[in-house]
Amino acid sequence: MQANNWLRHSVVYQIYPRSFKDTNGDGVGDLQGIINKLDYLNDGTRNSLGIDAIWISPFYPSPMADFGYDISDYCNVDPLFGDLAAFDRLVAEAHRRGIKVIIDYVPNHTSDQHPWFKESKSSRHNAKRVWYIWRDAKPDGSLPNNWGSVLGGPAWTWDERTGQYYLHQFLEGQPELNWRNPEVRKALLDVLHFWLKRGVDGFRMDVIAFLLKDPDLRDNPPNLAADPNLHPNDIYYRQLHRYEDLDEMSEVIREIRHVLDQYEARIGIGEVWYELDRWVRYFGVNNDGLHMPFNFKLMQRPWSASSIRETVESLEEALPQFGWPNYVLGNHDYARLASRIGPAQARLAAMLLLTLRGTPTLYYGDELGMENGNIPADKVQDPQGILLGAERTRDVARTPMQWDASPHAGFSDVEPWLPISADYQIRNVVEQSNDPTSTLNLYRKLLWFRRQTPALHIGSTRWLLESNEDCFCYIRSHARKEFLVALNLSDIAQRIVLDSLKRGNIVISSHLDRDGEIDTPELSLRPNEGLLIELTY
Ligand code: GLC
Ligand code: CA
Repeated sequence: MQANNWLRHSVVYQIYPRSFKDTNGDGVGDLQGIINKLDYLNDGTRNSLGIDAIWISPFYPSPMADFGYDISDYCNVDPLFGDLAAFDRLVAEAHRRGIKVIIDYVPNHTSDQHPWFKESKSSRHNAKRVWYIWRDAKPDGSLPNNWGSVLGGPAWTWDERTGQYYLHQFLEGQPELNWRNPEVRKALLDVLHFWLKRGVDGFRMDVIAFLLKDPDLRDNPPNLAADPNLHPNDIYYRQLHRYEDLDEMSEVIREIRHVLDQYEARIGIGEVWYELDRWVRYFGVNNDGLHMPFNFKLMQRPWSASSIRETVESLEEALPQFGWPNYVLGNHDYARLASRIGPAQARLAAMLLLTLRGTPTLYYGDELGMENGNIPADKVQDPQGILLGAERTRDVARTPMQWDASPHAGFSDVEPWLPISADYQIRNVVEQSNDPTSTLNLYRKLLWFRRQTPALHIGSTRWLLESNEDCFCYIRSHARKEFLVALNLSDIAQRIVLDSLKRGNIVISSHLDRDGEIDTPELSLRPNEGLLIELTY
């Protein structure tokens, strides 16, 4: 077994540090807050959540134009979150509990306040001018090309003093680095070394497919299928992105992997949104790429038995022989799971995520079934919500973690940076710990059982041709142990007949209110119920 195979047996938990736990009373979460909550994540007993790795979104010095995804110093900690000593403590405390630490790596762009960009901007002749992507205006003074920023507006900003435009496919405050320049590459690979030496176990690599740009910076063709009601600032989604995700990216990925491989058991995860045929390239050839390009397909496709099945099967088919599946159901850029598919189905989603073959990534708060926060237009913080309209704000998925029923949900002693969700008095860790049928207890149970049960992570999968199109059923097996997972994706009761089911014991019902023996091929599932059954034949 390769040393970095740990990721295959792990459940990853994403922490958005601003919103996890505030310990110094400034209304913003911090590294000490994460340390304080490590026991909640995994104290080795079944009373904790039971995850294996945390991925922490950026905590580096930043003007926070994009809440940390605009970095002004790659090798430090923003005072808002703590300092390097706190980070070292976090790694040590996490490791002491067997929790791996994955951090965010944002190599595509810096902040416009990064000293490199300040130099680059200082003069056309500065040595760092070529570290970023500067272009002349077209003869008529217009932008160098028609690209749009993902977060809204054009992808170019004019610099009056030096008379050129610079490229930013995100905010004006996130100028893009020129990865075709060897010095840039070296500087960014050195960032990996810096954190690897500090003991991090891996990186989640932000918009990794963007690193190389089309050398000619050609115009994007229009997206004729674009929604005609897109916000006027939404240039990006009105175009097709033919010049993203260039084939040459594989070489950059290999270089990154080469750095990881100089240390023991370190892994690379990539933020890669493309269709499977392009997505799969990020694994590299002969295992020389990323260990895990994030798979967002379950979040993007309809929530139905046939669509889930198609998503899972097509993923398994697309994987290279050395590859490994993974599934993401929520993150800081997307609406909350429970709001997308409804609170009842969100419990089923937990069962699906934690019983499929592949590495699951959970998003903080989803274990409570947290829903989209209600952010009044004047409280919108996210630049995407400001540039593309309040209904596009990603703040909804970034509201503070709900720890208890005290005034600021146990997140902070003061008014937090984003409003706490209205449901916090009932939906919080303390309440749900006391409720034997809560979503939190469902996650704990599923995670605990998965940990003891190799069939649920390394086992093979057999799809059952269910007799009922509202249900999704499969068998996971390993070493003569077999588990049936049967999920009712509808809100009406369903009956399914499964030849393979003769006898079994219900291990977990997603409603957490029944167990016991089953001895008929006919299975009754209540509305929105999922069952995990150990087959005994
Ligand atoms: C990624 C991040 C997102 C950020 C963007 C720019 O998509 O997940 O939050 O705004 O990159 O760094
Ligand atoms: Ca704080």
